[in-house]
Parts: sequence; structure tokens; C-alpha cells
Amino acid sequence: MIRWQNLWRSIPLFGLMMLLLTGCGDDTISALKPRGPVARDQMFLMKLSFFIMLLVVVVVFVLYIYVLLRFRKKKGEKDIIPKQVEGSHTLEIIWTTIPIILLLILAVPTVQYTFKLLEDHRDNKDALHVKVTAHAFWWQFDYPSLGIATAQDLVIPTGKKIAFELTASDVKHSFWVPSLGGKMDTNVGQTNVYYLEADDADTFLGKCAELCGASHSLMDFKVKSMEPADFDQWVSKMKTPAAIPAEAKAGEQLFKDNCLSCHAVNAQGLGAGPNLNGFASREKVAGILPHDDELLKEWIKDPQSIKPGAKMPAFALKDQELNDLVKYLNSLKLPQ
Ligand code: CUA
Repeated sequence: MIRWQNLWRSIPLFGLMMLLLTGCGDDTISALKPRGPVARDQMFLMKLSFFIMLLVVVVVFVLYIYVLLRFRKKKGEKDIIPKQVEGSHTLEIIWTTIPIILLLILAVPTVQYTFKLLEDHRDNKDALHVKVTAHAFWWQFDYPSLGIATAQDLVIPTGKKIAFELTASDVKHSFWVPSLGGKMDTNVGQTNVYYLEADDADTFLGKCAELCGASHSLMDFKVKSMEPADFDQWVSKMKTPAAIPAEAKAGEQLFKDNCLSCHAVNAQGLGAGPNLNGFASREKVAGILPHDDELLKEWIKDPQSIKPGAKMPAFALKDQELNDLVKYLNSLKLPQ
């Protein structure tokens, strides 16, 4: 009786746990809410294995509880030795065959999808080829067929396979956009290939999924999917040099003197740091900070305080110089 009471008392606790454990849902970073065909295929495999395991657990528990109740020792009953079934061929065949069948049901689609999802679409005319290079702690994206390069915000067209070619410049990272599909390691001196696709226009959150250093957890990026016509517009905007207003000219000079050796600001330049073409039109600063002048100044003055281990050096600029530089960076907008 007391045990039942304890169980009833725990129900609110279980309810709270369910709320907490299922509450961590952001639609733009959830493998459980697939937003493209690859993610859906992978979700199918997850469901398949989950339901097969559930079936096994239910059958085992039902048998267990049945045996527990059916063969209880009744009051006044003497100890009985049950019928011995050692060496029973029937039982051995049953408990060997059923797991083999279950494993086959799991294995056939898993192997099939594994090969399908690793197809190399880099030369496919209907796919878009994107090179991903992971750096501690930022992401570089090149579009060799379009002659553009960007960082932190990966922009893709909807309804098209994006053929990724992934590598890393320093240590191993892992490229992961949960809404669009599983992760893929980026290794130094090696190229991995796979593809993803987005159904509709949205902004998805991407993460580095391999412990790569002090700022691993801050190595975020965005995937912006756009209707094909908007994507084409974005490409031509990326190729249009930003109009630098007169009040940002002093900052432009400072940028040339201090930053240009690492940060390109044209359509396809690559360097030790992210290409900043269209910087002010990106979702975040350094992949994680909201666009805010004071935060941007903090970042330039002391990147280590925001992203420990980042390779960007601290710049000891005067307040006026910082203001000018921020004005220039804010003028690096894509045309409207
Ligand atoms: Cu890069 Cu973790």
C-alpha cells in the first residue's frame, strides 16, 4: 500500500521531468524536426531503430510480468523445481532467429541510406558546390562555381542539393546543422564529402560538434536558406562592392593598416581571418555576438575575453580609432 502511495507521489516529479526534458526545443536546431530530405531520411532511421527497440522492451517486460504473476509461489505451496529446458532446440532457434530478423530490418535501410547520403554531388549540375573550411573558432564557406567566399553565415538556395567538401586548417572540427542533417568531421589535410538540402527559407543554427579547444562551444554559424531567386540576388549583391560613406573613410584606412592582412573585404578573398564582405548584413558578430557597437569594440580590443583561444590578436586602438573602425565595419553592408 505504502509503495503505491510513493508511486502516486512521484507522478508530479515525472511530469516535471517530462516538461524539462522535452522543453529544450529550438525549431532551428533540432534533429527531431527535420527541415530537409536528408534530415528526414535520418529521422526515419532514428524512428525505425527506436520502435524496434521499443517492441523488444515491451515484449520482454510483458513476458517478465506475466511470468512473475503466473508462477508466483502461492501460500502453503511447497518449493517446486520448474521443468528444466536446458538444450531445447526450439527455444534456441527462437532466441537466435528473432534478433537476426530484427537486426536485418535495421541493417538493410541503414546501409542503404549510409551510401545514399554520402553521394558526391560536387559535379552534379543541379547541385551547388560549397567548400567548408573549419578554423579555430570560425567557419569559412567558398562557392567555387560562383566565385564568392563568406564566413559564419552560410547562404544556400532551397530545394537544391548542397554538395559539401569539408576540411579544417588547424585541428579537427565537426560541421553540424541538426535541422538539415547529421554531422560531418572536418579533418586537417583531408576532404570529406556529403550533401544537405533545405525545404524552405529559414535561418538554421549550426554548431561545431567536435571538442576543438577553449572556444569550441562558441563555434556557431548560421545557415540561411533562400528561395532560388533570392539566392541569385544575394550572389550578385555579394559581388557588388560596398558603398563606403565619407564618414567611414578614416575607419577604412585604419582597417587597411591593421586588419586587411587577415580579413578580405571583397567577393572571394580568403585569409587567416574571416572574409568580412557584407559583415554588417550577417546574423552575428564573430558568430555569436549581436550587432552592437560596444560589443564590437570589446571584440576588437580583446577577442580573448569573448572567445578564449581565438587567433585574432588584441588591437590597442584609441577610442576615436575604435569608433572610426566600427563605423567602417558597419558600412560593410550588402546593397538593399
Ligand atoms: Cu570547432 Cu569544436
